[in-house]
This record gives sequence, structure tokens and C-alpha cells, in this order.
Amino acid sequence: MTTDTERTTGGGGREAARGAPGVPWRVLLAAALALGGCARDGGAAEPVVGRPCEGCEIVFEGMPAAPGASARIAPEGEPGEPMVVEGIVRNAAGKAAPGVVVYGYHTDANGIYPRAATRHGRLRGWARTGPDGGYRFDTIRPAGYPGTAIPQHVHFHVLEPGRCTYYVDDLLFDDDPRLTEAERERQQGRGGPGIARPERDATGIWRARRDLVLGERVPGYDECERGEGRSGGG
Ligand SMILES: [Fe+2]
Repeated sequence: MTTDTERTTGGGGREAARGAPGVPWRVLLAAALALGGCARDGGAAEPVVGRPCEGCEIVFEGMPAAPGASARIAPEGEPGEPMVVEGIVRNAAGKAAPGVVVYGYHTDANGIYPRAATRHGRLRGWARTGPDGGYRFDTIRPAGYPGTAIPQHVHFHVLEPGRCTYYVDDLLFDDDPRLTEAERERQQGRGGPGIARPERDATGIWRARRDLVLGERVPGYDECERGEGRSGGG
């Protein structure tokens, strides 16, 4: 189990698959897959590409049956600096992608994942893109893990209903002193660039943008899109 201060990269492969409580949306997704959808991974309940993918099963735990295009990660009143993260999800051809679920989770203002039912902690949320491919999260700006050099980050996963699930590059912040050149060079560009340039708006709220490109630099994605069984990714 990942400790509070250990970074969960989303791709570390340190996590065993977990069962997840069923929700109607999830049941429908599983049914769609049974009809020839995406790759499965060793009996895991969901089609996950881009292995290894730490936590790709957890993303379904507690997911609302019908997420809206705007959602909260941190609840109102959560200590910390308020932040809005928003973006547009597009496919590789640049076309807006409605109906895609974006899942995000992050640490609190002390750099800790507050304990909750899953080890992704309490600060997590889902937004399903609207007709314009847009999504939005209202939350707080996370702190980096205490006592480490690891930068502030928000983990993101993409859930394409009936298709593929995968993690993408963390949302990082260009003004974060911990975001060193070495750290920048480590970014893979999964789902497109993850480094945002946050700015405070007139009310003092941080605004950060994380656009997403479906499947960008995600191993196994093309096979998954074509419904060719195992992704071979990871
Ligand atoms: Fe993390």
C-alpha cells in the first residue's frame, strides 16, 4: 500500500487489481466490453491500457452513475488555496470528445492524501465532458509531499466508456519551485502535455488548464480502439 507521503504516479504498477462496487454505468461498460470491447488485464474487471497502470481499477470505486461536466475534487470549505482546473478533451484528429470521463485526485494542502475508502484518498472526482469536450474541476491547489522534492501534482485518468481506461501525465505547475528541469524531462506526454501555467483570477482563485488528447502516447491505445483484444501495452 502506498503511504501518505509516497508518490502515486499513476503508472508505477505497485497496485494489485481491486474489486469495485458496481454502479449502473459501470455495469453497462462491462457489458459493452463483453461484446468485443477493449483489452482486459489478467482478469481485471475493467479494460485498462497503457500498463502498468497503478490505480486504474480504483478510478471506478465510488464513481457517480452520471458525472456532470463540472465536478468538485476537494469539497467546499477544504483548507487550501481554491483552484479551478478545466480543459477540452479531443481525439487525435483534434475533434472535441463528449462523454469522456476525466478522473482526478490529489493531496491536500499539507501534501497528504487524506485517508478514505480508497488509497487515492478523499480528494477525488469525476467529470464527464460535455458536447464541446469540456470539463471542469473545482478544488484546491495541492501541496507537494512533505519532506520530499516531488512537485505538486494532480493525477488524472481518462475513462472512455466502452473503450479504454488509462492514466495520463499528471497535472504539474510551471511556477512550482520543485518542478525542476529533470522533472520536466521525465514527463511522457501521455494525454498531451501536463504542465500548466496557473494564474490567479480577479478573485484570487487559481486557474489551471489541462487539455487532453485521447490515447496520446498511451501504449496499447490503438489496438484498444480497434477492439483487437489484449492491448499489449506496458
Ligand atoms: Fe501523487
